[in-house]
Parts: sequence; C-alpha cells; structure tokens
Amino acid sequence: MTNDKLHYTIPGLDEDAARTIIGLLQSRLHAANDLQLTLKHVHWNVVGPHFIAVHQMLDPQVEAVRGMADALAERIATLGGAPRGTPGALVEERTWNDYSIGRATTQEHLAALDVTYQGVIVSYREAIKALEDLDVVTQDVLIGQVEQLELFHWFVRAHLEDQGGQLQTSGESTEAGAARAAHD
Ligand SMILES: [Fe+2]
Repeated sequence: MTNDKLHYTIPGLDEDAARTIIGLLQSRLHAANDLQLTLKHVHWNVVGPHFIAVHQMLDPQVEAVRGMADALAERIATLGGAPRGTPGALVEERTWNDYSIGRATTQEHLAALDVTYQGVIVSYREAIKALEDLDVVTQDVLIGQVEQLELFHWFVRAHLEDQGGQLQTSGESTEAGAARAAHD
C-alpha cells in the first residue's frame, strides 16, 4: 500500500482500496521493469551455437514487457497514484535479487530465465487473487499480462524440455542452480 494521500481516484472505489491496489500495481511495475532489463541483459550476454535464435527470441519479449510496465504505471496514475519508475526505487523496493548470470551459454541463460519467469508469474497470480474482491478491472489488466508472460515462459521452457516432457531445470529454484543443471 502506498502512504501517499490520494487527491482523487476512480469513481466507485474508496481511498483505502485504491491505495492497496496501487501498492499491488507498484510491485508489478517493479517486476516488469526488472524483467525487461534482465531480458535485454540476456539478449546481450548469450553465447554458443544457438546464439542467434535466443538473441532474436528475446527482443519481442522485451518490447511486450515494456508495454506491460507502461500499462501498469498508467493504471497507477489513473487510480490517482504516482508510479515509481526510477532504477533507484526499483532496487530499493524489489523483494528479489538481481539476475546473477553474466556471459553464459544459451542453455544456461534459458535455465536461469525459467526461474526468473517462475518468480514473476507466481507473484502475478498472487496479485490477481488479492484483486478478486478489490478491483476486477485492475485484475483484468494483470490477467491479460500474465497470460502473455506464461506464453513467454513456455518459449523459454521448450528449450529445456526433452522428448518425454522432462525439464532440465526440474527441482531447481535458483538461477545459478538451474544454469548448472542445464549446462551443455
Ligand atoms: Fe539488440
């Protein structure tokens, strides 16, 4: 929840509800800004035989996630809040660590991105649940975004899957652990 006083909000919402919704949107905004930067970082740092496929796969994801950040920030403003989009606010307020892999093979980065997407998607689904009784309009925004994130997550996972459907990253919960498991 934001502590800032709201001078107006959407008709039909009370101020406390609006402040809670803004808080949920702000953490999604940080997640989207973090993810689009991380995806670009991977775009620049992948190496190995499948470089061009992965390098090129990631740019449309960056563009889509940037669009999500824009929609989240504008929803905050629509609710009467002030979105925080600076790098300093992101680093100060995020609840997860910075992406930990530098130059690495495509399989290592895809494995780490599998873990990154898992974290983002789980937190989106928690926010969607919390919005059920608060604001179905904001909930609808997040539902549309998480559907796309889940699709991108599958694009990543399809590279880590064998013919039997088993993921190389199965059971790994850290980027570094997943990257080690998928090392080729
Ligand atoms: Fe590029």
